[in-house]
Amino acid sequence: MRNNDNIGHWPARRIDRRTFLLAAGTAFASAYVSRADEPTETSLRQRAEKKGLVFGTQVNAGPLFSLKPYQDAVLRDASMIVPENEMKWRPTQSTALQSNYFNADRIAKFAKDNKLLLRGHTAVWHQNPPAWTKDIITGDDGQKLVLEHASDLIKHFRERVMEWDVVNEAIAPEDGMPDNLRNWAPYNKGGIDFIVDCFYAAREADPKANLYYNDYSVYYQSQSHRRDAILGFLEKLKTKGAPVDGFGIQSHLIAKAEFDEVIYRRFLSEVADLGLKIRATELDVSDIRLELDIKLRDTIVAAHTKQYLDVLFDEPAVVGLVTWGITDRFSWLHQGWPRKDRLRQRCLPLDDNFAKKPMWYAIANAFEHAPSR
Ligand code: G3I
Repeated sequence: MRNNDNIGHWPARRIDRRTFLLAAGTAFASAYVSRADEPTETSLRQRAEKKGLVFGTQVNAGPLFSLKPYQDAVLRDASMIVPENEMKWRPTQSTALQSNYFNADRIAKFAKDNKLLLRGHTAVWHQNPPAWTKDIITGDDGQKLVLEHASDLIKHFRERVMEWDVVNEAIAPEDGMPDNLRNWAPYNKGGIDFIVDCFYAAREADPKANLYYNDYSVYYQSQSHRRDAILGFLEKLKTKGAPVDGFGIQSHLIAKAEFDEVIYRRFLSEVADLGLKIRATELDVSDIRLELDIKLRDTIVAAHTKQYLDVLFDEPAVVGLVTWGITDRFSWLHQGWPRKDRLRQRCLPLDDNFAKKPMWYAIANAFEHAPSR
């Protein structure tokens, strides 16, 4: 997802503070529990499992292996992890000569040792090729290089990763290219057939892994062009026989953006009709449009989370939820979408000190109310 994508695009509707707190207060009254209750509280992973769903989180090797409260938080709540950057092309192959999977392997071992499911992110992404690939990717051998990379990466983690984001963010209607593909040399030259080849390469590299296409900005009213383009694209992938098992909906949400339940329900069921599983893969909720008050921000972020997840979990094809981080302390949003007032965003289930926020309770509550699979 690009940092400025669509931000500021939706009308910032003003909600009267008192009205909102009253409404949100009712919805969340049962969700707030005292600190004293916390040690016995059912974890997100248990709540998800009870419904046949999976709760996971993105992890970063830095804090995972150096900060105990972070590792404890991951182990308490998640039954699936996905590395934030450690499997991407740039960090794993900074020179043409050799690959370095040190951090990614450590995360894979951590997953195995702790019986966690592991997602792989991501094999093919226009944003992440290392600098040395620049001229090759635009030349005649560009597609071959990308395919080889995808194949090597997935082979390296064979039978350790249960699910791959094989291709990430290939759709960009604003680029004006055929089939709404992003303006990137391998797509320009190979079109959708090249993406089909990426999925075949992935299946061959690890026949047991589930293979996902992953993309963003399909949640809000104003994003119908992206919903239509992505649906059309997924349909073509299936028609062309690509071995694609699921669609990863990133879910980088923005508190106060216009969310229309009916539209989103329809979109999810149209994806499901293609025979695809659905996973929310990168949930966080930006509070960039909200005022200073922390309590108010947390309440609105939680309400938005709950509203979104209730719709998501109603769709039977949805298999789970992954948040893009577990704690506000480590979120890409602080750099990616900084608030104008420079305050830190409160976008994830735990705060900077690993205490549960209303967003944690909103996720817990959504799992409680989710229909069983
Ligand atoms: O590791 C280098 C460091 O050596 C260097 O000194 C520093 C200078 O800026 O950069 C460091 O790399 C940064 C890297 O994160 C690790 O911190 C990159 O600049 C920075 O661009 C990179 O950002 C990541 C971004 O993807 C691009 O790969 C974010 O952490 C990560 O959260 C974000 O995640 C993406 C998903 O993969 C796809 N969907 C959208 C999501 C959010 O943008």
